[in-house]
Amino acid sequence: MSNDDRKPTTTDAGIPVSSDEYSLSVGPDGPIVLHDHYLMEQMAAFNREMIPDRQPHAKGSGAFGHFEVTEDVSKYTKAKFLQKGAKTEVVARFSTVAGESGSPDTWRDPRGFALKFYTEEGNFDMVGNNTPVFFVRDPLKFQHFIHSQKRRADNGLRDHDMQWDFWSLSPESAHQVTWLMGDRGIPRTWRHMNGYSSHTYMWVNEGGERFWVKYHFKTDQGIECMTQEEAVKMDGTDPDYHRRDLFNSIKNGDCPSWTLHMQIMPFEDAKTYRINPFDLTKIWPHEDYPLIKVGKLTLDRNPTDFHSQIEQAAFEPNNSVPGTGFSPDKMLLARVISYADAHRARLGVNYKHIPVNTPINEVNSYAKGGAMRIRLASDPVYAPNSKGGAAAQPERYPEDATWEADGEFVRAAYTKRQDDDDFSQANDLVNKVMDDAARDRLVSNIVGHVSADVEEPVLSRVFEYWDNVDATIGKRVRDGVTANRNG
Ligand code: HEM
Repeated sequence: MSNDDRKPTTTDAGIPVSSDEYSLSVGPDGPIVLHDHYLMEQMAAFNREMIPDRQPHAKGSGAFGHFEVTEDVSKYTKAKFLQKGAKTEVVARFSTVAGESGSPDTWRDPRGFALKFYTEEGNFDMVGNNTPVFFVRDPLKFQHFIHSQKRRADNGLRDHDMQWDFWSLSPESAHQVTWLMGDRGIPRTWRHMNGYSSHTYMWVNEGGERFWVKYHFKTDQGIECMTQEEAVKMDGTDPDYHRRDLFNSIKNGDCPSWTLHMQIMPFEDAKTYRINPFDLTKIWPHEDYPLIKVGKLTLDRNPTDFHSQIEQAAFEPNNSVPGTGFSPDKMLLARVISYADAHRARLGVNYKHIPVNTPINEVNSYAKGGAMRIRLASDPVYAPNSKGGAAAQPERYPEDATWEADGEFVRAAYTKRQDDDDFSQANDLVNKVMDDAARDRLVSNIVGHVSADVEEPVLSRVFEYWDNVDATIGKRVRDGVTANRNG
């Protein structure tokens, strides 16, 4: 193709340029001139190309697709995008938690499973993980938890002693740590893992009836995991393995899909259920609340500008549309404020104007000003007004995803119920879900992880922690680490 057949290169202001290769110079051998603003524009833009990483979940990738509702769940929710036959455009992002943006995809870590649904009633975000539970149940511990999984202050290294110190002093982490140390701690690809809301959310139907719900996106590709050995090899040979796999699968027409199932609990059940249904370290056993099928999520379109469409995507659990809502899960309630704050810091106050974050329906908010504003503000800029500006419609859109609360102000997370101990669900995972081979891999993964650099007094607490999960696993961990240390 000759240059005449191509589009002319322009500056960012659209002005055609005379060279792609040479700076404006005083003769071919002389200095470059200061008023070569095109050179300056390129250097300045380059110096500002990087934006801050997400604090957690920095390394990831994503794709676009759609969600189609195949079943009638109207008796549980009035949300328009959840009515049978509805088809909604979606952007998804998968991620690891602890690593920086260049870290290997195949580190042992939970995986983020974040979805943004562009519904006709505004954006709905489901910002979940590939595990149905979490390490802590109170948001005051979240920042400490993430610090313990990332890097030390002194040498900038990740440190297993620090990880196990936090976990062994936080017994509520046992269920999630058992997941993490088991096979599912390293999914083979993002296509081969499930996504869970983990938290309990709310659905509200047309009649105002409320339900507590959990979202389960089950992979249609089947669950597949990597062994520790396979993953360590992959860390060195292709640190971007999961990112590459998703992109190439979609490019080759092998589009991954997930079937959404819900666990649905009648509103009143929560008051007496034997497990606190808002405690994020616990699952609801499926025999109590079976999965109810809803629809299918398919990813079939790759980004064309990774930075604008994936790095600048801003997922936030507060994006909740009519017919959906939150729950008294303290972690969720903290997340409802944390993410928008993170986005203001990472992307700027007008982050919702970035196309990937913009809803498909009309925005009639009273926001104005701020850096990088794209959507034009218009008068009137206040409410209430008598000038024909937008007005809230409480009859059409009531504040109905609510619950009642009362009590003294205390610093405490949940009153204990009959089956609310920290270890029994981890024990079920070991003994009812894993088979012998999976238990062997669990022990081997823990022993390898702990043997590396965990010292006293943390070491003894780690042994106790596993004794509490399961006496046999505890003994095997103790024996394995001791043998490694003596060997
Ligand atoms: C990312 C905070 C718990 C899933 C983030 C980010 C923050 C954050 C600040 C970075 C956001 C950004 O810069 O775009 C918190 C807090 C938590 C919490 C304060 C608890 C109190 C959880 C839990 C889950 C989760 C329990 C899963 C159930 C995610 C995911 C991302 C993320 C998937 C990445 C989203 C993306 O791909 O952009 N979190 N988080 N987080 N978090 Fe959390």
